[in-house]
Amino acid sequence: MDFYAPIIYVSRTFYQSIVKINIFSLDTAPYHTSRACKNALKGGTMSTTEINVVTGAFSYTGKYITRRLLAMGKQVRTLTGHPDRVNPFGERVTVLPFNFEQPGELVKGLRGATTLYNTYWIRFSHGTLTFERAVVNTQKLIQAAQEAGVQRLVHISITNPVASSRLPYFRGKALLEQAVIASGLAYAIIRPTVIFGAEDILINNIAWLLRHFPVFAISGTGQYTLQPVYVEDMADLVVTAGQAAGNMILDAAGPDIFTFEEMVRLIASILQRKARLIHVSPELAFVLANLIEPFVRDVLITREEITGLMANLLISQQPPTGQTHLRDWLAQNAATVGKHYASELQLHYR
Ligand SMILES: NC(=O)c1ccc[n+]([C@@H]2O[C@H](COP(=O)([O-])OP(=O)(O)OC[C@H]3O[C@@H](n4cnc5c(N)ncnc54)[C@H](OP(=O)(O)O)[C@@H]3O)[C@@H](O)[C@H]2O)c1
Repeated sequence: MDFYAPIIYVSRTFYQSIVKINIFSLDTAPYHTSRACKNALKGGTMSTTEINVVTGAFSYTGKYITRRLLAMGKQVRTLTGHPDRVNPFGERVTVLPFNFEQPGELVKGLRGATTLYNTYWIRFSHGTLTFERAVVNTQKLIQAAQEAGVQRLVHISITNPVASSRLPYFRGKALLEQAVIASGLAYAIIRPTVIFGAEDILINNIAWLLRHFPVFAISGTGQYTLQPVYVEDMADLVVTAGQAAGNMILDAAGPDIFTFEEMVRLIASILQRKARLIHVSPELAFVLANLIEPFVRDVLITREEITGLMANLLISQQPPTGQTHLRDWLAQNAATVGKHYASELQLHYR
């Protein structure tokens, strides 16, 4: 904890300011913008020449971050593994490949940018793309940001990262937080729990399973906890941290803590599904998931993800920074959530 001591004061002060400004109006716009962003718009930051780089502007969290930055009048450049994907932002977002293997090109892609919003990470090791490789790639990105003269790095991590963790996701995140802090760049590290929203995988696929099977297998007691955060709240926190000064580390966590079983029951009740919940060993949960995988042509869940879920790591010790209740969002999206399976392999490997 000593490692993080210098940022604790800044984080507390920043958290208080976030809580005051981060009040939503749920209007009918395709997305909503926090009061902070709206104030920025009123304050005349429209059409600045400031360039922000966002990794993954066509993927999940990066898309919501990009929308906010564009609404604030910033120019956005994205780095992505899918530069040929349909660009929903058109000419407003310049697209470049990650170029992890060509550091000179990576530096060029970041040159002129004030802020880098980094969402890059992998969910699990697959083929040649291991967690070790993802750590090295992110280290290259951080170094390129230094060389390019980027002024601020907003780095997305996860709650409760530990460098000695046996879980490579959490271990890799902890190592990268250290790399961000050691980089000398001004930084904000945002640590989300589980992010829910239209494009989410975990909650969507729990809903998909509840819609398609009469039985839902819960690993272990189901009493381990999660504190899901809404993707719009998450993006608000990220962009507000990008505009702030000073180094900070903040959790992105929603207003409710559920046990895993409570969350599954909540989803089932809102979708009016009557699936029977059974408790199985983590090993059997993994085997059952494996049986479904050929039909969805995906990795449904890994052993490590089951261990991570059961380890109470997806909760925050800080006051919540998100306001949106999962229950409300599910009720508003009951017709669509879980209608289609969300495939990680389809998203990132095809
Ligand atoms: N989603 C959650 O519930 C959750 C929870 C806690 C922490 N986080 C963290 O929040 C950040 C954003 O998560 P997200 O779910 O919004 O991620 P995402 O949008 O699916 O992906 C973020 C970025 O990582 C790249 N990426 C992801 N998987 C990849 C792979 N297998 N190979 C190559 N590139 C890959 C994407 O590349 P493309 O641009 O090519 O798509 C994109 O640029 C990540 O750092 C994640 O660890 C997420």
